[in-house]
Amino acid sequence: NKVDKKFPEGFLWGGATAANQMEGGFNEGNKGLNIADVLPGGKERLKVLKEPGFTFEIDNEKYTYPNHEGIDFYHRYKEDIALFAEMGFKAYRMSIAWTRIFPEGTELEANEEGLAFYDRVFDELHKYGIEPVVTISHYEMPLNLVKEYGGWRSREVITFFERYVNAIFNRYKGKVKYWMTFNEINSAFHFPIMSMGFSIQKEEDKYQSIFQAFHHQFVASSIAVKACHEIIPGAQIGCMLLSAPVYSYDSNPENVMYALQEERLFNYFCGDVQVRGKYPAFIKRYFKENNITLDIQEGDLKLIKEHPVDYIALSYYMSLTQKKDKTGLETTPGNLLEGVKNPFLKASDWGWEIDPTGLRITLNKLYDRYQVPLFVVENGLGAYDKVEEDGSIQDDYRIDYLRSHIEAMREAVEDGVELMGYTSWGCIDLVSASTGEFSKRYGFIYIDKHDDGSGTMERKKKKSFYWYKEVIKSNGEIL
Ligand code: BG6
Repeated sequence: NKVDKKFPEGFLWGGATAANQMEGGFNEGNKGLNIADVLPGGKERLKVLKEPGFTFEIDNEKYTYPNHEGIDFYHRYKEDIALFAEMGFKAYRMSIAWTRIFPEGTELEANEEGLAFYDRVFDELHKYGIEPVVTISHYEMPLNLVKEYGGWRSREVITFFERYVNAIFNRYKGKVKYWMTFNEINSAFHFPIMSMGFSIQKEEDKYQSIFQAFHHQFVASSIAVKACHEIIPGAQIGCMLLSAPVYSYDSNPENVMYALQEERLFNYFCGDVQVRGKYPAFIKRYFKENNITLDIQEGDLKLIKEHPVDYIALSYYMSLTQKKDKTGLETTPGNLLEGVKNPFLKASDWGWEIDPTGLRITLNKLYDRYQVPLFVVENGLGAYDKVEEDGSIQDDYRIDYLRSHIEAMREAVEDGVELMGYTSWGCIDLVSASTGEFSKRYGFIYIDKHDDGSGTMERKKKKSFYWYKEVIKSNGEIL
């Protein structure tokens, strides 16, 4: 169905992945270990991390590690990029694995083999006119920094990060125009281990530690923005937020206020600092009431003020419904933020509530608040796929999900939102971040690889592959 509402010219259509979930080659090219390399496969992976005695060592007797082999993009990137090109991708969002460039995180010199690998990937993308969109840190902190420094708890990590960004900006200045700093920076409220590189100890004041680590990341983000603008004139660098609008369960003002507070803290706090360049007013009360005192050094606030990001990249999978008193109500365990069940929405097989209008709401709210361009860099449906006897994969459920979300985006553009592009998540099947599974598939391209480790790694085009190709060709007019 063709409509007469348009996406802007030059809209960046494409797909998104992260190094740790698909590259494989986890110990090749002098790469060091990162936090994702010690995450076991399986639905319990995030719980396992919290078990007492979990040592952040690889234990092949006890666990499996699907990320180690990923989908072998490290060796098959040419074949995969050719498939992206066949779909007509204008952009490909990917991350650089920090430990390919600085294996331990602390070295003074970058690792040439790692740098050369991404040169090859970027060159291959440019061969087809695909613009790389690069996440600098996507749940891939060097394990050495986790173990020896407690991740972003430590201010020293800023120096290591600065070295890393300088190395990649200088090396790829002719090849990469679009950057973003920390993937889903606000996800740390729930899972600090993946983005901040530490877990909360039993006796510890969780929020004191998380907000201090955020402060270090904000300083690091501004250092990266400054360096990016100096080294690569014309480049754009964004923050990256996990976005889920928070609805009040009902019109009781107490619940509406509760939902607002949740939304402000989770969805807006990081954006307020990274885009507006200052700590928002509401957080001062929050800090006071929760006895949080930050160690802010001289010059930090000035740096943050002077170097805000250029745009907001966001992921959107679901909305969240909240009620102050949840007694007797069904909750949504699959949703990251644990809200109450929304009676108007259906959920995916993993319990994530499907809400395309929520994307339009999110885009409008973010644009109203910040007035900077937005870029949807993750959205998609994790689902079980079946290969039919004739070898085809009829993923109409995925097409339906994506179509309704692209429609919602198109409405947001009509509403006046400045939207740079859309890179759907896991454009090629990969390892799920929260559950370490292959069976939770997002891709247009199927990978013959399974949770028990079997599979040939053969790539197959799903029905959605052909559908998305038409979407891109028509610049979103034919869905
Ligand atoms: C986002 C992450 O949270 O959601 C990705 O940035 C992740 O890394 C994606 O893969 C989907 O989540 P999951 O757990 O289904 O892989």
